[in-house]
Amino acid sequence: MQASGESVRIGDGGGVGAALLAWYDVNARRLPWRALPGDPAPDPYRVWLSEVMLQQTTVAAVRAYYAKFLDLWPTVEALAAAADADVMAAWAGLGYYARARNLLACAREVARRGGFPRTEAQLRELPGLGAYTAAAVAAIAFGERAVVVDANVERVVSRLFAIAEPLPAGRSAIRAATDGITPDTRAGDFAQGLMDLGSSICTVRSPRCLLCPLAAHCAARAAGTAETYPVKAAKKAKPTRTGTAFWIEQDGAVLLVQRVGKGMLGGMRALPDDGWSARADGHAEPPVPGEWRQGGTVRHGFTHFDLVLQLMLCDRADCANLPEGAFWPVEEIEAAGLPTVFAKAARLALAHR
Ligand code: ADE
Repeated sequence: MQASGESVRIGDGGGVGAALLAWYDVNARRLPWRALPGDPAPDPYRVWLSEVMLQQTTVAAVRAYYAKFLDLWPTVEALAAAADADVMAAWAGLGYYARARNLLACAREVARRGGFPRTEAQLRELPGLGAYTAAAVAAIAFGERAVVVDANVERVVSRLFAIAEPLPAGRSAIRAATDGITPDTRAGDFAQGLMDLGSSICTVRSPRCLLCPLAAHCAARAAGTAETYPVKAAKKAKPTRTGTAFWIEQDGAVLLVQRVGKGMLGGMRALPDDGWSARADGHAEPPVPGEWRQGGTVRHGFTHFDLVLQLMLCDRADCANLPEGAFWPVEEIEAAGLPTVFAKAARLALAHR
């Protein structure tokens, strides 16, 4: 990344770009995937991996996963050669599991091509690599001028320009405004500067406008309305679904299945379940005859619905007709890589043993 001392040509940003980059040079967060001002550009694999992980997730949650992935798979070639189940298990707990499947598909294509392409347009052609990630990798790893908009950037820019059109429709105006202030050079630092500003100063509640390097440019600050942006369309209430998961234990091991395909939590190890479409009375038929007992319920919020999952435990199952899967030692259940909802159910089961 370039430091501000070098010549920086700012687009039509009216001073926003220069002010933000000067602030970033002093205040950039030290993050493991980042190059500091003046350092050489970071490894594109690291930038890509961190950006995929950071979508929908906080920096604090990502740190340990990022370190674990680099430890297990230090290069994109190493990740490309990994078994699907190992990658899914290493991702467990980070949520939005389609990202892990896409990560692997993308790594394999990059390894096949012999490296990451360098432009936003070419990056966008890779399987599972979306518009945000293409722009972020092009700007941060390759120094291309790309317009990078995540939730922090949305908040900062909607305030700067007092964009009142509610999200999601307001996103195109926010993107256009971000384009207007993105400098021709150091677009990666500029994007990360907006992200850092959003997470430390231009916060959702009680923004610290007195400390903001962009205060003089900010329309919402001038109107005293910063906290009201970004305006969001009223959310529909989330529906609740109910389901049942089955804990089938034999000789100190529990039956785990691999969830199918690209559906919810597809490819992940899990407890057998009823598909979460329980009858109104909540009754689910166990997958095999046996001595079943109730194990309580766990609740888990997914993006589009909340799940109330009942747990049923079986100590002696009819082994002839078990669902397809494998028995996993209960003592090592933490290492199974269960997605969070099933990890919660497993903890509940352990409390009932
Ligand atoms: N969120 C997404 N990408 C980020 C980055 N590069 N730095 C900080 N926060 C981020």
